[in-house]
Amino acid sequence: MAKTILLLSLVALTFSCLAFAFEPSPLQDFCVADTTSPARVNGLACKDPMMVQASDFSFSGLHIPGNTSNAVGFVAKAVNAVQVPGLNTLGISLVRLDYAPWGINPPHTHPRASEILTVIEGSLEVGFVASNPENRLISKVLQKGDVFVFPVGLVHFQRNVGYGNAVAIAALSSQNPGVITIANAVFGSNALIASDLLAKAFQYYTLKMAKQMLLLSLTVLTISSLAIAYEPSPLQDFCVADSMSSGIYIYIYKYIHACTHEFILISSLMVQANDFFFGGLHIAGNTSNAVGSSIKPVNVAQIPGLNTLGIAIVRLDFAPWGINPPHIHPRASEILTVLEGSLEVGFVTSNPENRLITMVLCKGDVFVFPVGLVHFQRNVGNGFAVAMAAFGSQNPGLIGISNAVFGSNPPIASDVLAKAFQVDKEIVKQIQLKF
Ligand SMILES: *[C@@H]1O[C@H](CO)[C@@H](O)[C@H](O)[C@H]1NC(C)=O
Ligand SMILES: *[C@@H]1O[C@H](CO)[C@@H](O)[C@H](O)[C@H]1NC(C)=O
Repeated sequence: MAKTILLLSLVALTFSCLAFAFEPSPLQDFCVADTTSPARVNGLACKDPMMVQASDFSFSGLHIPGNTSNAVGFVAKAVNAVQVPGLNTLGISLVRLDYAPWGINPPHTHPRASEILTVIEGSLEVGFVASNPENRLISKVLQKGDVFVFPVGLVHFQRNVGYGNAVAIAALSSQNPGVITIANAVFGSNALIASDLLAKAFQYYTLKMAKQMLLLSLTVLTISSLAIAYEPSPLQDFCVADSMSSGIYIYIYKYIHACTHEFILISSLMVQANDFFFGGLHIAGNTSNAVGSSIKPVNVAQIPGLNTLGIAIVRLDFAPWGINPPHIHPRASEILTVLEGSLEVGFVTSNPENRLITMVLCKGDVFVFPVGLVHFQRNVGNGFAVAMAAFGSQNPGLIGISNAVFGSNPPIASDVLAKAFQVDKEIVKQIQLKF
C-alpha cells in the first residue's frame, strides 16, 4: 500500500539542480516540435504543452527489416526529430540499420553526433578514421551483442561480413545528426566539384577511377567544420578515458582542454579498437529480483572511448510483469526501443501539471524520456521483455526515486517524508526498512 502511495506521491516531488551536458540547455520539460509553426529557432518551435500526447514521443515499426535491394546492400531507418517531434531539443536519436550479405554502409560522417551501435543479428566489420595527420583506421569485427562507438564527425563505415542478413541498432547524440556520405558529398555534389581538383585531392586521374580509389583514399581526407551540439566541445578526435590515471600527468598529444572531469586524454597512439568496444549485449540479464528487471549499462565505465562523446547505451530485461521502478537520469534524455515483448512506459512532467504521459509499446516501438523527468517501464506481458535504450550522456546517472527518498544514507528524517508524502510517520519508517 505504501508503495502505491509512493507512485501516487511522485507527482508531489520537485526536482532541481539538473546538470545539462548540452547546448542550448532546455528551459522546459520538453519542446515537442510544432512542424506547422513558421517560427525559426535552433531546432523547431515548441507545441503548446497542453496539446502534447504520448504519441509525440513515440514511433512504431523499428522491428520491420528494411529493403536492402540496392547498390550497396544496405538501408537505414532513422528515428529522429522528424519522426518523433518530442525529440526536439533533447539531443538524441535512434536508427535501425539493415545489411544484405556483404552489404555496406558506405563511409560517411555525422557532423553533429557521436554514435553508439549494437549488433542485433549477424556480424559487422566497423571502423573509423582518425583525423590528420595520422589518419589511423580503427576497425574491428563485431558479433551479435557487441557495441562500438564512432566519435563525432569522423569518417566511419560498416560492412556485413557474413552470408546472412545483419541488423544493428545505433543511437546518435543529436536530434538531427546529419549524414554526409563521402562519395556523394565529394563526387556527387550539386554542382560538381571540379574533377581536376578531385583528381589532385585524391592523387588520381580519372573520376571513374577516383571513385574506386575513394575507399583507399579516405585516409587523406580532412573532416572539418564540425558543428558540435554540446558543451564542452571536444578539441580532439576522441579522449579515451584513462581509468588508471590518478594524477595530472598527461601525454600531451593534442590540446586537451575538453578532457576535464575525472578522465584525461591518453596518447591517441595508445588507443585501440577495443577502447571503443564492448561485447555481450545480446545476453539476457538476470531478472530474479524484487522488481523483476535487470539493467546492463554500457557507458564510459564499460567503453573508455565514450569519454567526452555524450552518448551511452543500455540493455533492459524484464521478467513477466517486472518493472524498472520510477527513476531519473539527471544528465540525459533517453530513447528506447522494444526488441521483445510489450512495455508500459511513462514519464511525469514537472510542477505544477505533473502530467503522466504514458503508453504501451510493442516490439519495434520507440519512446522518448526527456532529460531529468521521472519515468518508468513495466512489462505488461506474460513473457519476458527486452529493450535497448540510449542516453545523451556518457554517464547519464541514475536516481531511483524510492532508493533516493526512502533509502538514502543517512536516511531523510521520517517526519520530513511523512509531511512530504502526507502519510503517517510509521508508514514512512516501514517503507524505509525496505530500502
Ligand atoms: C525492394 O526494393 C526493390 C528495388 O527498389 C524492389 O524491386 C522490391 O520490390 C522491393 N522489395 C520489397 C519486399 O519491397
Ligand atoms: C539469478 O539471480 C538469483 C538471485 O540473485 C540467483 O539465485 C540465480 O542463481 C541467478 N540465476 C542465474 C542464471 O544466474
